[in-house]
Amino acid sequence: MQVVTTLAELRAARAALTGTFGLVPTMGYLHAGHLSLVRRAQAECAHVGVSIYVNPIQFGPHEDLARYPRDLPRDLALLQDLKVDLVWTPTDAEMYPPRFQTHVTVERVSQPLEGARRPGHLRGVATVVAKLFNAFTPDKAYFGQKDAQQAAVIRQMVADLNFPLEVVVCPTVREPDGLAMSSRNVYLSPTERQAATVLYRALCAAQARFDAGERDATKLRAAMSEVLAAEPLAHVEYVSAADPDTLDELERVETRVLLSLAVRIGATRLIDNFRLGDA
Ligand code: PAF
Repeated sequence: MQVVTTLAELRAARAALTGTFGLVPTMGYLHAGHLSLVRRAQAECAHVGVSIYVNPIQFGPHEDLARYPRDLPRDLALLQDLKVDLVWTPTDAEMYPPRFQTHVTVERVSQPLEGARRPGHLRGVATVVAKLFNAFTPDKAYFGQKDAQQAAVIRQMVADLNFPLEVVVCPTVREPDGLAMSSRNVYLSPTERQAATVLYRALCAAQARFDAGERDATKLRAAMSEVLAAEPLAHVEYVSAADPDTLDELERVETRVLLSLAVRIGATRLIDNFRLGDA
C-alpha cells in the first residue's frame, strides 16, 4: 500500500496503476461502512484508492471541524489489512492553496434538507469531490447511501460536468440495533447512544406504513414524527419523504421515495434514510 501526501506523488503513483481504478473518498476515522465501500470497490476494480481528508470547507463556522474524530495510524492499519493500493492524505495547503477561489455548486438538488440546514456544506462536498476525481481519475467512485443527498449531488455533478466515471452508492451499514454507522457516533454518551436508535425506529415505522400500502407522503412523514416525538432526547431538524433523485418533497408516492431525517441527540447531529420502492 502506497501512502502519499502531495498531489504530485499521488499522480505519479496513480499513473503506475493500470486497469480499472476505484476511489473511496473518506474523511477518515474509518468504520465498517467505509470498509464495506473498499471491499465493494475491490470486487469491481483492479486497483483501489482511498482519500483521507477532513475537508474544512464542508463544515459551517459553528460545526465540529476542530473536534471531528481523527486517527490516521488506525485508518492506515485498517486499509493496509484490506490491501488497498493507494492512500492520499493531503494537507489543507495542498488541497486549498492560498489563492484558491473555485467552487462547485450543484444548484437545485443542494437546496433542501441538508442544504437548507447546513448552508455551504454540499458546495464544500461537491468541490472537494471534484478535486478528488481530478486527482485520482477513477473509473468508479464509491459513496454510502447514508449521505443520500450527498450522493444525489455527486451524481448530478458527474452528469453535468461530464466526469468520465461511474458513481456507485452502497447500502448503509448499521449497528446491530439499527443505528447507522457514522464517525460522529463516537460523540454520543451511553444514554444518547440508546436514544439514537430512534432514527432507525422512525424510519421502520414509516416503512411499515409504506409496506401496508400507504402512499400519502404526509402520512409517511407523520409516522416518523410520531416515533421521534416519543424520544425526549431527540430534537428534530427535518423529516422528509422526497423524490430520491430531485429531493423534491412529495405529496403522493408514485413509485419510489426517499424517507430521510436529521435529528439532534444532545449536541450530536445524526442523519439517516431509507430508500423505498426501487424495483
Ligand atoms: O462522506 C464523506 O465522508 C465526505 O463528505 C466526503 C465525500 C469524503 C467529502 O469530503
